[in-house]
Amino acid sequence: MLVCGGAGYVGAHAAYALAQRGFRVSVLDNLSTGHRQALRWGRWIDADLLKPESLEAAFAEPVDAVMHFCARSLVSESMAQPYDYYLNNVVGSLNLLRAMRAHGVGRLVFSSSAAVFGQPMSERIDEAHPKAPINPYGASKLMVERILADAAHAYGLRSVSLRYFNAAGAAFDAGIGESHTPETHLIPNVLRAALGQGDPLQVYGDDYDTVDGTCVRDYVHVLDLADAHIRALAWMDAQPGAHCFNLGNGTGFSVLEIVRAAAWVSGREIDCQVAPRRQGDPAVLVASSAAAREHLGWVPRHTAIEDIIESAWRWHTSPSY
Ligand code: UFG
Repeated sequence: MLVCGGAGYVGAHAAYALAQRGFRVSVLDNLSTGHRQALRWGRWIDADLLKPESLEAAFAEPVDAVMHFCARSLVSESMAQPYDYYLNNVVGSLNLLRAMRAHGVGRLVFSSSAAVFGQPMSERIDEAHPKAPINPYGASKLMVERILADAAHAYGLRSVSLRYFNAAGAAFDAGIGESHTPETHLIPNVLRAALGQGDPLQVYGDDYDTVDGTCVRDYVHVLDLADAHIRALAWMDAQPGAHCFNLGNGTGFSVLEIVRAAAWVSGREIDCQVAPRRQGDPAVLVASSAAAREHLGWVPRHTAIEDIIESAWRWHTSPSY
């Protein structure tokens, strides 16, 4: 199994879950945003999707399927640097797909995002919801989904695109978790504030039309995401074509609800300051994952928000962090 981007947050957890279940894993990563310490579950291939010749090393040994997590993934950065996002996320994916085709590899699980939907038009977002991304990051993911549909038609490539809502939590006992530089995600920032590291938490907007005025998101444990990838692989054996599934728990939590849950988990007070809204943030994003449950048999195991935050807290307070 070739895991592209396996040193990043979701990719490392997928590599770990695959190794736990007995898969032989190779991780392709250029460590541009990934972590060397996450390269513990298989052979490391130091390659770059934007340098197609470097991909040959990944296919030197037989590859039965690919999981593709390589991407730039910050919404606000994508607004400021759209060329970088289209280049990395779309051209990089095309290079990978062409290498897969050249080497006769016909199965792919692609890391997509709720950002393909844009502003939600219903309370829970299912796969039929209109796709109208409002930032280059979401547009880049949607373009790759489209390329995969065309590749299924033209070349018979089998693929499953998994659209995560808000990935969260950690496999703290395996020494991996969420860590980005700069860190823009809510839960890591809340936990840093709980530890008194840096400034108080900035709450981006308290005047949204939500339960308490702050944005609502659907947080899903990263190990549950990893499990969905492994299920998608098996499911594809009997399913030609390009398929997409939404992955979330179906329950939304506001920013302030996350802060309260984190205060409870950590036993610490968390200082917050209300700041202006962040550009490109929809008020509410909550998934319907009925299709993933039905077709993949996916049943998330870490559904309580306190458990998700606790796993992240244990990672943040561990020596590996
Ligand atoms: N937030 C704060 N303060 C912070 C960080 C975040 O108030 O310090 C708020 C944000 O404004 C947002 C919520 O917390 O309302 C969640 O923000 P995150 O940055 O943690 O996550 P996003 O919902 O913005 O983004 C996530 C993924 C993206 C993906 C997007 C799909 O990180 O990759 O969901 O919409 F594109």
